[in-house]
Amino acid sequence: MDNEPIQHNACAAEPFPQQGRERMICPQPISALGTGEPNMEKPLLARMSPERVFMMGDNPALARMPKEPKLLDFFRLRFSPITYHHLLQSAKTALDAGQDEKIVIACLLHDISNGAFLRTEHGYWSAQLVAPYVSKEVAWAIQYHQALRYFADESAGFKYPDAYNHFFGFDYEPPEYIQQAHREARAHRWYMTSRLITVYDLYSFQDNVTIDPEMFTDIIGRNFRQPREGLGFDGSPVAHMWRTLIWPNNFL
Ligand SMILES: [Fe+2]
Ligand SMILES: [Fe+2]
Repeated sequence: MDNEPIQHNACAAEPFPQQGRERMICPQPISALGTGEPNMEKPLLARMSPERVFMMGDNPALARMPKEPKLLDFFRLRFSPITYHHLLQSAKTALDAGQDEKIVIACLLHDISNGAFLRTEHGYWSAQLVAPYVSKEVAWAIQYHQALRYFADESAGFKYPDAYNHFFGFDYEPPEYIQQAHREARAHRWYMTSRLITVYDLYSFQDNVTIDPEMFTDIIGRNFRQPREGLGFDGSPVAHMWRTLIWPNNFL
């Protein structure tokens, strides 16, 4: 499909780990909690045998990541189609509006957690994922966009999103900690950086728009410090989060 992220197998020839055995995937506990879905730990542990083990390492159902993965490898090989397109469209809209590179990179990364990690508290998780590699201002703006999305700022051209009325109901009130984050952000010198993420967020769910992620290569190069060892292998405080995206099905 034209609109899907391009999948490619960087090291397709290498054998997969745990050869000759069935490899069971235990769902993440957080994804079943409260949904009525059964917790699978006990039944799966009961099925374990010398021929049936828990998955560790590359999963043949997923595209293989390069050994030293870069930011755009995660876009192409791991992110869900919605997040992939949303982030590219958001960044492109900011770029076309003549915004500074710091706004473009913030838009490109603002929902990165939703791509293949966690939706809950997505501004905070997204900020944490990228904090070692971007400026403090960009990480701050990404964190606070989560709260700012609930509060209109007509002077900046941002109305409360219609989508949120559909998502949460027309009478939804954000919790106190989000209201507090909004007040903090309003009083902060970087307010506009975060606010502009929300401005370009609004217009970014368009179908049938194909954007080549490579168009952001230079902006990423100047505004995102890609570690030489690859994301996940640089020993940073968030490396384990990137490895979780590489091997989301590891048992431990
Ligand atoms: Fe967001
Ligand atoms: Fe967004």
